[in-house]
Amino acid sequence: MSRVRQHNIIYKEKYAMIRICAAENYDEMSEKAARIIAAQVIVKPECVLGLATGSSPVGTYQRLVERYKAGKISFAGVTTVNLDEYKGLSGTHDQSYRYFMQHNLFDHIDVRPECTHVPNGLAEDAEAECARYDAFVRGLGCADLQLLGVGRNGHIGFNEPCDEFVVPTHVVDLTESTIEANARFFASRDEVPRQALTMGIGVIMGAKKIVMVASGADKADAVYGMVKGPVNPQLPASILQLHPDVTLVADKAALSKL
Ligand code: F6R
Repeated sequence: MSRVRQHNIIYKEKYAMIRICAAENYDEMSEKAARIIAAQVIVKPECVLGLATGSSPVGTYQRLVERYKAGKISFAGVTTVNLDEYKGLSGTHDQSYRYFMQHNLFDHIDVRPECTHVPNGLAEDAEAECARYDAFVRGLGCADLQLLGVGRNGHIGFNEPCDEFVVPTHVVDLTESTIEANARFFASRDEVPRQALTMGIGVIMGAKKIVMVASGADKADAVYGMVKGPVNPQLPASILQLHPDVTLVADKAALSKL
């Protein structure tokens, strides 16, 4: 009996429409994205939020913190699942994604610490940690709303350009361009970890709703390819064309090639 290899996706046609919410600049983008996330939490206080790190969502998180401090929103019922973590960094390392989330969001709102989840970058068996995390996120029913940024090379999470879309949560070798882009956060390029644990395309696409934030001219090619190009694992964000509910909140510069 032949075995069906149902692991990765290869699909190279242009498919559907991604909803675009245009903003003048980074601040407006952040406000618009925060409104969508706040509405999700208000409508379903016990929701699962999929969260991203990086410079794109910082403004969005600031606005969510402001809303919380103004008494307009509570995260007490929310569960969060982050997309990714560097392999080899502890949660207390100031460049780890756990640290980023504590610093930019979790420490300033009423989310219960035990309900915030980031892959463990220090797990002895990183592959086993990926399998655990994948099963955990699937057990939650995946995110009600997944927030994403996009890499200059079109990566989402740390799903880097590749010959196939990788469905399970996995350990990934970061590309030179990602290492280069992230070097700005480290004392030197040599300190940037070479590997990360990332949600796979499966649990990202399992989210009920996806919101991507993109800002700046250096994202314009990735945004163009994602929206107008074929669905192609060489530009991982293009898989979002196959999702029924994606909103791209982007500023003028990021939309400049559309
Ligand atoms: C972060 C992540 C990455 C970033 C992307 C863009 O958790 O998964 O995909 O969203 O690298 O990063 P920034 O926003 O710094 O340009």
